[in-house]
Amino acid sequence: MSYERKVIDIEKIKEQEGICARISARFAAEGKRPLAMVDTYGCQQNEADSEKLRGYLAEMGCGFTQNEFQADIIVVNTCAVREHAEMRVLGNVGALNHSKKNKPEQIIAVCGCMVQQEHMAEKIKKSYPVVDLVFGPHELWRFPELISRVMTGHRRVFAAEKSDGVMAEGIPQQRDGGVKAWLSIMYGCNNFCSYCVVPYVRGRERSRRPEDVVAEARQLVEQGYKDITLLGQNVNSYGKDLGAGVDFADLIRMINDIPGDFLIRFMTSHPKDATEKLFETMAACEKCAHQLHLPVQSGSDRILKLMNRSYDSAKYLRQAELARSYMPDLVLTTDIIVGFPGETEEDFEDTIRLCEKVRFDAMFTFIYSKRVGTPAASMPDPYTREDKQRHFDRLMEVSNRISSEKHREYEGRILRVLVDGETGRDEYNLSSRTNGGRLVHLRGNPALIGRFIDVKICSGNTWALYGEIENG
Ligand code: 5AD
Ligand code: SF4
Repeated sequence: MSYERKVIDIEKIKEQEGICARISARFAAEGKRPLAMVDTYGCQQNEADSEKLRGYLAEMGCGFTQNEFQADIIVVNTCAVREHAEMRVLGNVGALNHSKKNKPEQIIAVCGCMVQQEHMAEKIKKSYPVVDLVFGPHELWRFPELISRVMTGHRRVFAAEKSDGVMAEGIPQQRDGGVKAWLSIMYGCNNFCSYCVVPYVRGRERSRRPEDVVAEARQLVEQGYKDITLLGQNVNSYGKDLGAGVDFADLIRMINDIPGDFLIRFMTSHPKDATEKLFETMAACEKCAHQLHLPVQSGSDRILKLMNRSYDSAKYLRQAELARSYMPDLVLTTDIIVGFPGETEEDFEDTIRLCEKVRFDAMFTFIYSKRVGTPAASMPDPYTREDKQRHFDRLMEVSNRISSEKHREYEGRILRVLVDGETGRDEYNLSSRTNGGRLVHLRGNPALIGRFIDVKICSGNTWALYGEIENG
């Protein structure tokens, strides 16, 4: 597959920031303090993209709101992975008719993976006149220019051309909170799993330069972030397109070398190319969390082949074992798709068997959703929605039982956790995470947020652990 790496010149990002400054000056001249609302669907990559949208919006002089009736600018950042998310987006965008009626000058933008699909961009053009601006993930770097065209031309703007994707550094980012941060290390996906729309909407794999990633990580640590999650569709492919001789394990080491007390997490890892070097590095780097999200998708070799996953269940089991041999305290989680076209009872039983063997700490389970343009969309699928739902419910039971058993094993142990926020509840007012990323509820002083502390785990259920702060 040949792909030409397109890098947006930093001067072009500066031009975009110049447009932000002009928009900000215009708002100020009108005596306005505009408010923006950014509504995000889908994965952490989208959360990270929304931080960039907020970065630009802040430079346009916007404050932020969660109330669509108060917003001058609304940006809906969408997901295309499953139909359910698309339906929610369309329902919510349709409902924005009300806020726009109240505030006719309101600008409504829809961006992200959903609108990178031609049929969805068309649908919005035809059936959602309330939307002023549509742009795909490859156009995010020029969001200021696009919104300025809407503002000055008083017309609808559509920008979601087909693209293999671009690279852009230097886009301003507005991150929330001060404890956890997302850090994109690469974009796109080359794997073309037969059910997945991501490679079509996010383009080819492209890695950020290691020096740019490390500089951003260092800045985050200096700003006081304690929990940094490296993001990519498949982080194991990191660096392959750069030819700089730095792979993902090397990148972890480089970030681990940054002085400071913080944790490194990452997602997602593809089982086809998770290496022993990665597990060894995770075990050796004291700042790297012993947490691995390794989506298996199915336990049936026949289905894995149809999914184009490039591994079989035996390879997956070997990897899980190898990772645990380096890190006996590893927290291992996975994604599973139930009801892939043609999945039989027998295939499903293979999945259950694999889950019982591996005993995941947590599983994210999804019912297969047909995606336009993917190979699986044209595979025969004789099973009913009810069959799939029955399998889904059974898998959830297995997953919940194993998570609950695993969480009970924590009872009585003393663990170091990172306090990351308030729960809004009286009894357990703080939330925290273990090194492996398990949620622990605590009672304590909110001043502890952002601190690593020792806690004794008192109880655990399927979803969370409950602990008491250890004194001394
Ligand atoms: N239907 C259902 N689940 C899907 N996923 C990706 N594509 C689909 C689809 N078409 C799931 C996979 C992936 C997770 C992010 O979403 O399990 O790992
Ligand atoms: Fe989709 Fe497969 Fe790429 Fe994950 S690895 S984004 S499931 S194509």
